Amino acid sequence: MCDLEHAHDAHHFGFLVDHPEIRKLIDDTRRSRNAFAADAERVAALRPAFARLLAADGWLPEKCAVPDRTSGMGGGIGQYALYRAEDGSLCLFSLVVPAGAATPVHDHLAWGLVGIYRGRQHETVYRRLDDGSDPARATLEIAKQQTLGQGEFYTLLPPLDDIHYVKTISEAPSISIHLLANDTACIWRHRFEPASGVVTPFRSGYANAPCPPEPHGT
Ligand SMILES: [Fe+2]
Repeated sequence: MCDLEHAHDAHHFGFLVDHPEIRKLIDDTRRSRNAFAADAERVAALRPAFARLLAADGWLPEKCAVPDRTSGMGGGIGQYALYRAEDGSLCLFSLVVPAGAATPVHDHLAWGLVGIYRGRQHETVYRRLDDGSDPARATLEIAKQQTLGQGEFYTLLPPLDDIHYVKTISEAPSISIHLLANDTACIWRHRFEPASGVVTPFRSGYANAPCPPEPHGT
């Protein structure tokens, strides 16, 4: 289900990996959207369901748990869609970061929950000091750093703590699970170079599903 060879004849939205544990989390997320108007309340309510998925075994196919040498993110980092709402309002994906590899510094632009399923990661979170008026520049400083192991997770509530990078510090690749309120790999977001202040448009793409065509071919 997670290999590109069959991407052309697979379905690319809905449950790309259909497992009761994944269905339960997506059902809980849909319910929480109706029950809570505020993003902070919604992600707080989803914490038990997300923790349960991280603690469960046997639901992540091996093909969604391996590095991707053709990665759009570089470093052999694999990003595999597990669930995608067709309207772009929600996705669940695995991110496989090989030992010693790090993501670019990036943002997410949606609320969500991110947790460690296998291995260990070190996360560096940045605070933005400028007003964001120049799309090509950003002034960043490190806001916090933390190490995360299996079952540990954090919330995303942009703009708070939305810019970060993670590095795998375990000997085996780390696998993190991401529940976000957009189609994360297919939206245009941003890659940051903190030392120079350069900001670059960035679309990571999924290893196992294509992104919808862009209206103007960009
Ligand atoms: Fe991230």
